[in-house]
Amino acid sequence: MDILALPTRSRVLDVPCGQGRHAHPLAEAGFRVEGLDYSQHLIDIARERGTGPTLKYARGDMRKLPMRWTARFDAVLNLFTSFGFFTDAADDADVIREFARVLKPGGTLVWHGGSRDGVMAKFLSRDWWKSDDGTMIGHERSFDPLSGLLTIDTAWEGPSGRGTRQHRIRLYTASRLADLCLDAGLVVEEAYDGFHDRPLTRRSGEMLLVARKRELPRPRSRPGPIRRDSRARRANAS
Ligand SMILES: C[S@@+](CC[C@H](N)C(=O)[O-])C[C@H]1O[C@@H](n2cnc3c(N)ncnc32)[C@H](O)[C@@H]1O
Repeated sequence: MDILALPTRSRVLDVPCGQGRHAHPLAEAGFRVEGLDYSQHLIDIARERGTGPTLKYARGDMRKLPMRWTARFDAVLNLFTSFGFFTDAADDADVIREFARVLKPGGTLVWHGGSRDGVMAKFLSRDWWKSDDGTMIGHERSFDPLSGLLTIDTAWEGPSGRGTRQHRIRLYTASRLADLCLDAGLVVEEAYDGFHDRPLTRRSGEMLLVARKRELPRPRSRPGPIRRDSRARRANAS
């Protein structure tokens, strides 16, 4: 929140909020926080941690945030790889548009997740390790450069059993995300190497982007009937 320099009582949306591990301390710090997540199970865990007038949770889909939230928030937080989940990339663009819609003019989006440039620079197609209880866990990764989809196959075997699981996520470069933001009226003003206080580089595995919602465009002055006083000014000017 140092990046945002928001006054206390500012309205913050944490989306998706998971089990409230950011929403809760932010409310304790004096912000008015709402958290939204698709998982009812995680929302229940978040609510068990506590709710109140300055901390509320809702179950929902980040592609379609509640209409009553239009221009409600000073900041929207999208943290810890909470983006790129959808089969259709257009859904990711919708998510950014929804973030923009619920921000007040001048409000801030903080986006944090993997950086495609950095992940590619240090790409690990396979790794494995032993967990504390002796379970062997292995990952195999493949990447499709056209769709940007990273597929991770996980296999495990040990005292607690064996199994496999596949997980897929769309990776973004900072520039592609900045384009999506711009299309939605958000201007990326800062890019960091994850949560470190140093600039994003092509080798950063994570990135944190700070984007500002444009202030409302000033109404264009329409050519109208020339008033007598402005006619006088024109005459004086010539
Ligand atoms: C990696 S977790 C991160 C959660 C949280 N930002 C954190 O740092 O603890 C991603 C979350 O996205 C949620 N999620 C997945 N698809 C969603 C959707 N369409 N709308 C809202 N939340 C979604 C999951 O339920 C999960 O809690």
